[in-house]
Amino acid sequence: MSPRENILCVGLCCLDIVSQVSHFPKEDTDQRCLEQRWQRGGNAANNSTVLGLLGAKAAFLGTIADSHEKRFLLEDFAKYGVNTEQAVVCKGCECPSSCVILSRATASRTIIHSNKNLPELSVEDFAQVDLTPYQWIHFEGRNVANVAQMIKLVREHNKGLPRGEFITTSVEIEKAKPELEALIPLADVVFVSKDFAAFKGYSNKAETLERVKALAHPGAVVVCPWGEEGASACQGSGVMVHSPAFPPASVVDTLGAGDTFNAATIFALAHGSALEDSIRFGCRVAGAKVGVIGWEPMR
Ligand code: ADP
Ligand code: FRU
Repeated sequence: MSPRENILCVGLCCLDIVSQVSHFPKEDTDQRCLEQRWQRGGNAANNSTVLGLLGAKAAFLGTIADSHEKRFLLEDFAKYGVNTEQAVVCKGCECPSSCVILSRATASRTIIHSNKNLPELSVEDFAQVDLTPYQWIHFEGRNVANVAQMIKLVREHNKGLPRGEFITTSVEIEKAKPELEALIPLADVVFVSKDFAAFKGYSNKAETLERVKALAHPGAVVVCPWGEEGASACQGSGVMVHSPAFPPASVVDTLGAGDTFNAATIFALAHGSALEDSIRFGCRVAGAKVGVIGWEPMR
């Protein structure tokens, strides 16, 4: 194992404009919020933030618009120690952005996302990256045909290596999109969200793990976070393991809770921790995150 876990996160970086409100607004009203801020967002960007906070050697790979937000985004990655040397800057594009409403009353996070013209990362972009420094590559589930090819490239890379030096791959199946299912059989570790489970009609963590395990490759790890119910996971035909959630005194910001859980779980697994301990660590870190606004207080 490398002295520091060297983990590459592949996926989206966008701008989140986050408004904290006491109650979710009524339609067609005008009100002041408690607080509003710009925050770097996107699942892979958030994963790398958390890995940076935990002390991993984290890197982000994805496209970034060459628009006026670029400086804010790159400086913010740097603040968390995330390497962005591989990121692909795209000229003449608008930065994808999300308007996010965080309700204090219910702890909900409502996201309205826009992506006008930022291209997805291409297989050619990925093929140019020197994979040798990485112990682990995590893929956000999007851009499915390309990501499938990218995971295959990592597999090819592993073929020439002794087992102990294989790069582990993980994928996050989060959004309610049927095409994401094609990524399940490809990765060593599969994270499945409760939103995807609900979309498929799975009613709980156990059913989700059983169904996804049947699609995953034999021996793969499947992990399922489930909000206030914590998380469950299994590996191959092994027993299912569970962790409760670790709620903070007050839940103030659930934006990126799943991204935090996934990153912290990857960190623990990459460190050699057992599966049950790893999801417990994921739940602990995600529990701490939902108790603070953004990630700044965790630095
Ligand atoms: P997402 O952000 O994708 O909706 P989840 O809601 O499933 O993700 O949450 C991911 C993890 O974050 C959970 O497994 C849990 O550990 C933690 N978490 C989320 N909401 C809470 C909460 N209200 N209290 C404590 N932990 C939470
Ligand atoms: C949170 C998040 C936000 C972003 C949105 C994109 O998981 O990554 O930071 O705006 O999801 O879908």
